[in-house]
Amino acid sequence: MAKGTFYVTTPIYYPSDKLHIGHAYTTVAADTIVKYKAMQGYDTMFLTGSDEHGQKIQRKAQEAGKTPKEYVDAIVATFKSLWKKLGIDYDYFIRTTEERHMKVVQQIFQKLYDKGDIYKGKYEGWYCTPCETFWTERQLPDTGEKLCPDCGREVEWVEEESYFFRLSKYADRLLKHIEENPHFIQPESRRNEMVSFIQSGLEDLSVSRTTFDWGIPVPFDEGHVIYVWIDALSNYITAIGYETDEENFQKYWPADLHLVGKDILRFHTIIWPILLMALDLPLPKQVFGHGWLLTRTGKMSKSKGNVVDPVVLIEDFGVDAIRYYLLREVAFGADGAYSTEALIQRINSDLANDLGNLLNRTISMIDKYFGGVIPAAGPADEVDLDLQNCASEMIKKVEENMDALKYTVALEELWTFIRRSNKYIDQTTPWLLAKEEDKKERLGTVLYNLVEALRIIAGTLKPFMVETPYLMGEQLGIEELIRETEWEDLKEWGKVKAGVKVRKADPIFPRIDLEEYFEKVEKRKEKEMAIEKEDKKEEKELISFEEFSKVDIRVAEVLEAERIEGSDKLLKLQVDLGTEKRQLVAGIARHYQAEELVGKKILMVANLKPAKIFGVESNGMILAASNDKGELTITTVAKDISNGSRVK
Ligand code: MSP
Repeated sequence: MAKGTFYVTTPIYYPSDKLHIGHAYTTVAADTIVKYKAMQGYDTMFLTGSDEHGQKIQRKAQEAGKTPKEYVDAIVATFKSLWKKLGIDYDYFIRTTEERHMKVVQQIFQKLYDKGDIYKGKYEGWYCTPCETFWTERQLPDTGEKLCPDCGREVEWVEEESYFFRLSKYADRLLKHIEENPHFIQPESRRNEMVSFIQSGLEDLSVSRTTFDWGIPVPFDEGHVIYVWIDALSNYITAIGYETDEENFQKYWPADLHLVGKDILRFHTIIWPILLMALDLPLPKQVFGHGWLLTRTGKMSKSKGNVVDPVVLIEDFGVDAIRYYLLREVAFGADGAYSTEALIQRINSDLANDLGNLLNRTISMIDKYFGGVIPAAGPADEVDLDLQNCASEMIKKVEENMDALKYTVALEELWTFIRRSNKYIDQTTPWLLAKEEDKKERLGTVLYNLVEALRIIAGTLKPFMVETPYLMGEQLGIEELIRETEWEDLKEWGKVKAGVKVRKADPIFPRIDLEEYFEKVEKRKEKEMAIEKEDKKEEKELISFEEFSKVDIRVAEVLEAERIEGSDKLLKLQVDLGTEKRQLVAGIARHYQAEELVGKKILMVANLKPAKIFGVESNGMILAASNDKGELTITTVAKDISNGSRVK
């Protein structure tokens, strides 16, 4: 019987690059709370996805010589594969380019416009493209430099017609809501920051753009696309059926928890609630703004070369070590540093030593003293009752802390119990009990209790780890029991049935030698660099004059040019080669209009084997220059010269 619903979201990530460990952090945290709530019997809904529109994506795609959709498709595939590797069990992956989302966002925009909460005006200001944010003059740094106050990059001056959203109208209502619902914005310190921001006065928000077109069109004004944050934030309701599946929407909305990084808390605690108020919808119950995961050299960025790739870490250390490290190392809410040394330290001490040894010792002793069969428990001594008591105390504390999203403390409590269980072995000295035949029952009790402790530990780990609890279950011969364990089962002692056969003890977390690991990483880097060098060498390999002479380059005049239907890259050209006419297909439609090519004298390779491109025959190749920004220009001749002239 479900206890009720629990709806959790992560931010939807920009598919502008591969995700790094910081993104994995938010998503693992969300996944863990969802798994925990599901174990408690909630009907959970877990949403993640990708935020695919906006100028930045459009530019990136252009640079890569792809359409925006082609570009994001490839990156979204890497997101999904990462989530799979990390054991993330989302219920739905929303893409803002999907039809249903786009339609509903248009309806939302229309509704707000009809209501008068969106109006047309003119925007003048400084625009930061990477952040997709407008700034006023007074928001820029005091130094007079034209830099984005958020990311520090250069901003551009823009003037454009724009639609505006009346944020100011709802400021008081929002403040009142925050005051009356102290859990709405968490943690506390961030809540205060948001309140002062609102109190300093909200300006109406520009919610449309005309300078690029990779976005959802404003339904009644096609020259404008809807501001990417309005598009993005709406995902939380479009994904669960707002305006399309009323029943499902009513079931899960309002969301119980939006998990976001502190960098985007303002969007989620000001723009988003106001948007919902304007739509007459209830507000999410909580928005939690967690801290940043930094590296020793600061914020992760490609240019600094300090981006930590979660896929490599999973391959090197296993998924559970990474999930554990992310949730254990840094208090959720605070900023923290990622370091491989600290990760290895955690693996060796917490996972291999504390947890691994407990499992290993227990199984080995059952093997040795009871032929691998879990013995029955006899009467309980004080030390046994204390162990049981510690288990139930631990579960209570884990609950308290999980409900407050204090993952770090919850795991600490669990590890205190793991250490307590190891101590139980030292206190009860099974190796001494084994020497006396009349202590056999006592020895059985001790080992049974250890298996029970391990059952509870594995069960408590289920939200945090995705393989280990089941591996523990397998080795203990109670895999099924672990799979079926719900949260309430952790509050009872004595669920394991005596008589079950354990399997062979195998270390679940092998120890890692720090130096050896770094050597391995060094070697790997050297190898990668060598391959890169080799590739470059190959690229630069010199050719002989004879080889070059094989290429027949000619001057040709474009007679006709037209777009190839169904392709936004290709043009079909008819050219005059002096002695003959030829048809070519050229991938330059994003850089040239068909008409502007007619009459131009271009350079082409005339002896290329014919090919069919997009079903159209191409007899030659036009030459063009392009740089790594994706800019392109066709080549032509400096002086007029007859068609068919050879280029040497
Ligand atoms: N697309 C927007 C979010 C729209 S939500 C309606 C966006 N995307 S993002 O890909 O740039 O980043 C999303 C989130 O990733 C951040 O808010 C944060 O949760 C997480 N993180 C990105 N880098 C991070 C760290 N270095 N550390 C911790 N979290 C980080 O913003």
